[in-house]
This record gives sequence, structure tokens and C-alpha cells, in this order.
Amino acid sequence: MCPHGPAPRSEPVSPVADSDVAHMARAVELGEGVRGTTAPNPWVGAVLVTADGTAFEGATEPPPGRHAEIVALDAARSAGADPAGATLFTTLEPCSHTGRTPPCVQAVIEARIARVVVGITDPDPRVSGRGQAVLIDGGIGVHEGLCAHDITASLGPYLHQRRTGRPWVVLKLAATLDGRIGAPDGTSQWITSLQARADAHALRARCDAVLVGAGTVRADNPSLTVRDAPGTDPRRFVLGTVPSGANIHPCTEVDGPLPEVLEALAAQGVVELLVEGGAHVAGEFHRLGLVDEYVVYLAPALMGGDDGLPLLAGAGAASIDQLWRGQVTGVSQMGPDLRVTLRPFTYREGPSPGTVAADGVAEHPAS
Ligand SMILES: NC(=O)c1ccc[n+]([C@@H]2O[C@H](COP(=O)([O-])OP(=O)(O)OC[C@H]3O[C@@H](n4cnc5c(N)ncnc54)[C@H](OP(=O)(O)O)[C@@H]3O)[C@@H](O)[C@H]2O)c1
Repeated sequence: MCPHGPAPRSEPVSPVADSDVAHMARAVELGEGVRGTTAPNPWVGAVLVTADGTAFEGATEPPPGRHAEIVALDAARSAGADPAGATLFTTLEPCSHTGRTPPCVQAVIEARIARVVVGITDPDPRVSGRGQAVLIDGGIGVHEGLCAHDITASLGPYLHQRRTGRPWVVLKLAATLDGRIGAPDGTSQWITSLQARADAHALRARCDAVLVGAGTVRADNPSLTVRDAPGTDPRRFVLGTVPSGANIHPCTEVDGPLPEVLEALAAQGVVELLVEGGAHVAGEFHRLGLVDEYVVYLAPALMGGDDGLPLLAGAGAASIDQLWRGQVTGVSQMGPDLRVTLRPFTYREGPSPGTVAADGVAEHPAS
């Protein structure tokens, strides 16, 4: 459950009820539950608490489906409950623009909801505070910043994609403990255990798209589907030319400078991209500083020698003072293997300047 600390802003701060925190924590869970299914939209969760204290839940549906707030509102109405006077908890600011669906703020105002508790502001330029402004103008009390830290962590890839115009890039590789991802003869299946591979499939399901180099397609003929975990297959992209007859069809071939490739993928609605190698593609993403999160599965195996494929091919650090250093964000055991996740030091888990940075509640009374 998200803790709540002091609000960082100068607005009057409302007391945070434990029940408010519990409702928002549940909304975060609901959003996490649909992660990987909502692109290009964020995975938002919402809880509507009617005047008699009954809670109705919602989460973003796959496009062109409903946004989380509308799912919760519809759930209340289907149960015969009146949303008038209710409190809506939503992890992300409700939208104020017409996209595939009408603006959520309009539905909230028409339902005569009394109070909206928003986790964080939506950085999408089409929203960006406008949703809250419309609600306040509509006579609704808006409270912002509850569980902001947890929500920022949960929606991190979405926030990154909207702010940078590039997907959140996760680089995933499986290696021996001496850092080899393939043998000299090009074989690499399998370095890690079934358990580690099932976890990698869950990672695939969480991402909207997966990308590999043409060298990996030539060597492994992978299908890149989600088989050993629940979830749906991501879209598949290959850097370079796909040989005819490859398992990976359907897929899209992409080429060009990697920053431009990423911008093109974001424009196609990819929020979270899983790069699965091979060594040259991984090395290039790393060298260009385009990796937001590294996930390395390490098998208790040693290849030895100097002719196996390294994790990151191409030029590396020339001197020890040029080592790339990151921050370990997780270590866990998957069967006999280790899973290590790390992020660049530049990564800051928390809202960017201009958004609420802690878990207090900044209150905006209705006008
Ligand atoms: N253990 C693991 O986690 C893992 C994962 C994946 C692969 N692997 C192993 O890695 C090996 C394949 O790796 P690899 O290094 O030979 O090939 P790769 O990195 O998969 O692919 C390299 C190819 O990608 C294309 N490409 C297009 N733009 C590129 C760019 N900007 N940067 C880099 N490549 C670009 C080029 O294909 P064209 O030549 O067609 O232009 C290039 O030859 C295989 O042995 C495979 O089994 C292991």
C-alpha cells in the first residue's frame, strides 16, 4: 500500500484518510492488471465510491474500449447505484479531449460526482492539467497527488513515452555467468532454465512490442510469442531484413538510426518496447544510451574462452574509468538462474518537475 507523506506544494493540504489510501492503492493494482494491453493508452485504474460507501472498479480497456473511469461509472450504473455525490479515485488525471472515446471529464461532470482524487497529472499534451481544470470549473472538488510515488513508478514507461516521444526500452538478455549470450557456433538455446524463460514470456506480455536484430532471426528463427505465461503476443519488429520462411511472421522490418526507429515506433503507439538482442543490436542500443531498463538472466554456467558472443558486441569501454555504471533495481532467483534488473543512474523514480512529487494530497477546491 502506498504511504503518504507531506505534500510538496503550497496548496491547502487535506487530511488523507486511510480509506482514501486503500482505494487509490486498489486503483493502482487495477491499472497494473491491464498493463501491456492498453497501448497507446496508459494502464489506468479507477475506483468509484458511491455516497453509501460501495466501491465500483474499473481499468482501461484495450483500444478502442473504455477508459478506467468510465468502466467504474458503468459498473455502478449496471448495479443500479447512483454515482451522484460519489468520490472517484483515478491513478491518472481524467482526459479532457476527444480521442477514440469522448472526454472522461464530461462523463464525470454529467454523473454529478462530488470529488475526484487524482494520482498524477497526465503529461500527454492533450491533457496536461486541463482535465483537472475542467473538473474544477464543473464544480467538482479535485484532490491531486495521492500515492503519486507508486503511480509514477507504475506508469513510468507511459510517462517516459509521452515526455520523450520514444518508447520505454527494456533490454533483455540471457547469459552465462561469464557474460556470454551465444556459443561460437551461433547456438544460444537454451542458456537459462524453463523458469527464467517463463518469466521472460511474462515480460513480453507486459510489453507492447518486441524487437530483435536480423542476426537473431537468422540464427534462432524465433517466434517471439507469449507461450509460457498468461497474456497476449506483442507486436514484433526486426532490425534489418527478415529471411523468407522465418517463424517470426507476421512482423515489421525496421531500419535506420535507432533514435529515429524509436520515434517511429512511439508514433505507432508503442509505449513499452522489449529489445531481445542479439549482441550487436544490444550493443548499439546500449552505446547510444537508449536503454531505460536492463533485464539480464544469468545461468550458473560458464562458457569460457574468448570466442563466445558477448552481451554487448561492438566497441566497449576503453578504460576502467569509462565503465558504464547503473543501479541494481532487483535481484531474484528463477529456478537455478538469477534475474538482475538495472537502470541507468540518470533514471529517477519520481515525478518530473512540475508534478506532485510525494504522496500528500494537494487540494483544489471546486470553483
Ligand atoms: N542469449 C540471448 O539472450 C540471445 C538473445 C538474442 C540473440 N542471441 C544470439 O545472438 C546471436 C545473434 O546476434 P548478432 O549480434 O549476431 O545479431 P543481431 O544483433 O541479432 O542482429 C544484427 C543485425 O541486425 C541488423 N541491424 C539493423 N540495424 C542495426 C543496428 N542499428 N545495429 C545493429 N544491428 C542492426 C543487421 O542485419 P542485416 O545484416 O540484415 O542488415 C545486423 O547484422 C545469435 O547467436 C543468437 O542466438 C542470444
